[in-house]
Amino acid sequence: MNKQLRKAVIAGNWKMNKTPAQATQLINEIKPLVKDAGCDVVVCVPYIDLQAALAATVGTNVKVGAENCHWEPSGAFTGEISAEMLRSMGVTYVIIGHSERRTYFGDTDLTVKKRLRAAIDNGLTAILCVGEYLEQREQGITAEVIRTQTKIALGGISEKELEKVIIAYEPVWAIGTGKTATAEQANEVNKAIRDLICELYGKAAADKITVQYGGSMNAGNAQELLAQPDVDGGLIGGASLKSADFAAIVAAASK
Ligand code: 13P
Repeated sequence: MNKQLRKAVIAGNWKMNKTPAQATQLINEIKPLVKDAGCDVVVCVPYIDLQAALAATVGTNVKVGAENCHWEPSGAFTGEISAEMLRSMGVTYVIIGHSERRTYFGDTDLTVKKRLRAAIDNGLTAILCVGEYLEQREQGITAEVIRTQTKIALGGISEKELEKVIIAYEPVWAIGTGKTATAEQANEVNKAIRDLICELYGKAAADKITVQYGGSMNAGNAQELLAQPDVDGGLIGGASLKSADFAAIVAAASK
């Protein structure tokens, strides 16, 4: 499979960090550092920071995403934000099915599927997260878990719609722990995801889809991870909150 056929995407996932004023400041630091990036650069920020992030990125190569969306366009869903609302304000990316949403907020494979459908229907590019728990890896069922999560989420998504889907492999045991998957482990699962896409949609779609790695990716290990044939970018948590570190990862993906 030819890596040149797809664009590398480095996306920050800020999680529950930064006020709007802090968001503006961080983006203003990031902008000049990534302006010549050879990859796509996205910052996924808390809902309350979206307006500030959109304003700070006008006319730049930095794109703005949300960290979740609801599947209904509107209604009695206290505390939720719909994909339609995100689209209406000019947001272009959204993270779907992050393990923290699955673990702490009750997201399931089926709700992830519904959120993905809504994101695609609203023209957003979705970053679909999949990943195994440590116990699952130790039991030797990583590939089954990843295949099931991916297959259910993509149910009903056409080959054309798949062009707006990025898949992020994020082993749960590597998130925020400082324990990165080895480059080989990351590539092995990313390749399994691409093989599944080939089974479901064919080789052309598999060649085209961007499959990121996420989980303690940082300025020091990014280059080795991103050099893997099936790692097309990264979803970055902690290191995306520091402009120099985030820019170093963008630079590593631009090579
Ligand atoms: P860390 O980079 O902080 O491990 O977080 C990864 C992640 O969850 C990105 O979505």
